[in-house]
Amino acid sequence: MGKKLSKFDHRKNITAVQQREIQSIYCYKGDRKFLNVSNVNYMYPIDDNESDRIQENYNLYRYVWNDNFSAPIKDILNSNNTQVLDIGCGPAMWTLEMATEYPKSRFVGIDIAPTFPIRVKPNNVEFLQENILTGLPHADNTFDYVICRFMMFAFTTKDWEIAIKEICRVCKVGGHIEFMEKDILFWNEGNFTRKARLTFVEELRTKKKIETVITPKIPRFIADTKQFPVIYHTERNVPIGKWGGVLGENYKFIYTWGAKNLKSIMKDCGYNEREWDSVIDKCMKELSENDGYDKIHRFWAQKEELLQHIESYVIEV
Ligand SMILES: C[S@@+](CC[C@H](N)C(=O)[O-])C[C@H]1O[C@@H](n2cnc3c(N)ncnc32)[C@H](O)[C@@H]1O
Repeated sequence: MGKKLSKFDHRKNITAVQQREIQSIYCYKGDRKFLNVSNVNYMYPIDDNESDRIQENYNLYRYVWNDNFSAPIKDILNSNNTQVLDIGCGPAMWTLEMATEYPKSRFVGIDIAPTFPIRVKPNNVEFLQENILTGLPHADNTFDYVICRFMMFAFTTKDWEIAIKEICRVCKVGGHIEFMEKDILFWNEGNFTRKARLTFVEELRTKKKIETVITPKIPRFIADTKQFPVIYHTERNVPIGKWGGVLGENYKFIYTWGAKNLKSIMKDCGYNEREWDSVIDKCMKELSENDGYDKIHRFWAQKEELLQHIESYVIEV
């Protein structure tokens, strides 16, 4: 990885030196900018179009869940000096909205790419450019609550283990961790979508070591830390297409946007860009016609002292 960047808005008033520093962690594929950091596998572009997509995603999932978290932390968020950490915060809609709603708590957002706001933010928020896979600069047992959302295209299976261990380390005993994630799986998919999806999942698994059916593995990674005896799980179905009304139409639009933002990187897996777009459009049309839907998952757990001989179990909520 190149030299660490200082904190400034990379879109305005930057010097040539700063420009070079920024570029040292990025590379271009066509007109899209991507991370170029050794041992980091993040597959989405890092640019304004992608930041807009992440923000739209945030709004949609906020609507689907009607809240920003599932762990039982409301009371502690309303007490003084609760410490919250958002892993891979991106443009940081979650951190910013939570910090505004809970002004007594202190929020830290970390991301390997500085797409978070530098100057205009609530006083109780700090953003740091950090790679969770090389370790966070925080002491053990620092945070009361650590959230990690939508990192499926950032981590290999091994990376998930490393990241979850690090999340466990910085969470206080008595504190909570939470994950919000989805898989590349659909319900009520047709034959075309099924074939395209299985091929895509397998290509990423073998060529990029990225596991896109990750939620079945998350409880095991949490359990392996031996500090979370009970893991809670809940899920929401999200319709794709017209049959699901405004939500379905919006989800189809955002899903298509996200899938198409992967197209430059999918060239590495042998897909031509036009072909890729056409496969995505056909899948979305088929899902819409079949009343297809997706599932979004949340897992949360409370940290205890190290329990060498205890097997964790999952409670469905
Ligand atoms: C899909 S975005 C999710 C953003 C945010 N969590 C949300 O839910 O809106 C994934 C984010 O993870 C960041 N990321 C990828 N690899 C990372 C790493 N190793 N350490 C920290 N952040 C990383 C990316 O830069 C990107 O902002």
